[in-house]
Parts: sequence; C-alpha cells; structure tokens
Amino acid sequence: MKPADAPVDIQDEAALQLDGAGNLRHLLTLKGLDKDLLIDILDDAEGYLTEPGSIPARSELLAGRTVANLFFEPSTRTRASFDLAGKRLGADVLNLDVNTSSRKKGETILDTIYTLQAMHVDVMVVRDASAGVPAYIARHVQDHVSILNAGESEVSHPTQGLLDLLTIRQHKRDFGNLTVAIVGDILHSRVAMSAAHGLATLGVGELRLVSPAILAPDPDSVPGAVITDCLQQGLDGADVVMALRIQRERIGNLDGIPNIDEYFAEYGVNHQHLKFAAPDAIVMHPGPMNRGIEIESAVADGPQSVITQQVTNGVAVRMAVLERVGRLMSRP
Ligand code: CP
Repeated sequence: MKPADAPVDIQDEAALQLDGAGNLRHLLTLKGLDKDLLIDILDDAEGYLTEPGSIPARSELLAGRTVANLFFEPSTRTRASFDLAGKRLGADVLNLDVNTSSRKKGETILDTIYTLQAMHVDVMVVRDASAGVPAYIARHVQDHVSILNAGESEVSHPTQGLLDLLTIRQHKRDFGNLTVAIVGDILHSRVAMSAAHGLATLGVGELRLVSPAILAPDPDSVPGAVITDCLQQGLDGADVVMALRIQRERIGNLDGIPNIDEYFAEYGVNHQHLKFAAPDAIVMHPGPMNRGIEIESAVADGPQSVITQQVTNGVAVRMAVLERVGRLMSRP
C-alpha cells in the first residue's frame, strides 16, 4: 500500500546514495554500487566479527550520534541487528514504536522524519511496505542525515544482500566460479533482488532463480539470471542454495499459489532435494523461516546450514555501513 504522502520515486536511487566524492551517504539499493565499494564494506564487516562467546567488537566511532530505527513493517533480525550495531559503535539508538507513534493519528511520514531530524537524529533506518519510501525520505532530509533502507516492499533489502554476500564469501572465495540457486517466492522477494544485484556486481558465475511459474520474477528485473520452475534443474551442482519463504503479506490473491504440502513436496529445500546440489553446498535462508514449507528442519539445522552465521554477519555488516555513513558526518 502506498501512503498518500509518499510518491513512488525509485529513479536515480543509485546516484542519490553517493555524495559528490563517491562516498556512501545513504544506502538505498545495491544496484549501481560498484564492486570496490561492496568489497570494502564486506572487508570492514569482517573486521567486526569476533569468536563465538567473546565480547563483541565495540568502538566509539558514532559516539554523540543518534540512530533511529523506523520499522513500519515487522522485523526481528534487521531491527535487532541495527539496534546492536548502533550501540556497539557508541551511538544513541532510538527504536520508534510505530504502533504507538503519531503516524497512527494521521501524521505524514515526512512530518515524522522532520520531527526526528529536529531532535538531532543523524541516521534513520527505514523499513516500509511501499516502494520508493527510503529514496523519498532521502530526498527530503538535511545534508548531514543518512537514510538506510532496512527493507523496501519487494524492491530492495540492501543490508540483507551485503550479509548474504559476506556469508557466501566466507565459504566460497571465488564468485566467478559459483553457481547460486535461490529457491522460493522470487517474485515478491526484496532479498532475492538485492542478492541478485550484489552477486551480479561481484561477477557470480551463474544465478538461478527457482520457483513455481506463478512466483517467478520478470526476467528484465534480473538480467543474466536463469529462471526455472524445475527444482532439480535449479539445484543441479549448485554451490549455494538459498531458500525463501512465500511472502503471503505481499500477495493479494492467493489463487494459484500451491498449498503448503504441494509446495514442500515440489520446492521445499529438504535433504532429498539437497542431493541435487554440490556435496559441499551451503544452505542459506534470510529468515524468518517457515519450517516444513520452504525448508526442512533437518536441513535448516543441519551441517550445510549457514543460517545462524548470516544472522551474526548481519550485525557486522550493519556496523560497517553505519561506520561508513558516520565517517562523513565526522568530517569538518
Ligand atoms: N531477513 C530479515 O529481514 O528478517 P527480519 O524481517 O526479521 O528483519
């Protein structure tokens, strides 16, 4: 649903997110960001990873700065990890409860943004069900304020894309020789779109998008990807298998969508289907998982799963992004 005050305006997002010197000012999409910048962010994120059980990496890079989490859609992982990332960099972090905010009384999204800006919020982390909202906000904030897209309709989820790239890189060093299979509701998935953009920039060997025909993407939105409704063909020899849930909240009419049992039998990433992939394939899922629908529990919790590692990497990636936009604010 598009709020009346938020026109869809997704052109030139790539240009909008860089300053005149090519530095990242907002993070709205991975589309158009160059390879060196993506690799720099992944390298920075790796520097924030610590051994399990150790004290997480901390710094005071954002001391005195304020990060506001504005999630107009539900979230567990993204919101919690931006919260932790901001705090671990020394920022004040505000988690606005949108269900009790004045948007419920009819305040426009821009009035909410201007209100927070007037309270010296420096970074706004925005999740919204409508396409174009992060860019729309980015066009209206003052020069020192950064907007980070934390999930935009079915269009873009750039920090998820970055954490997925980081996780793949930790296991499979050479993107050029990789076959990545994304299985599930590709049509409604911002995760798939950001993964596709990032993987294309890093030169992935082959990207396969596997779904029932009714959930397949527009080929023009994923140039170069192989689109198939055959799971066996899609998984054949794949090095990376990413399962996605059916995004029922974004599907108005469920007619034609397979029922749970049919879907699991034909497209579920289970231990039988996983045998089509390479023996050392990793299994990913952005979460939240619907066990027994798009992924079998034995696979989600099995030896090939890197799903909890994705979550860990999510905090590190968000620290790297916050650090990067925070550096611009610290300049005289
Ligand atoms: N992957 C992801 O965006 O999860 P959340 O919806 O829990 O943030």
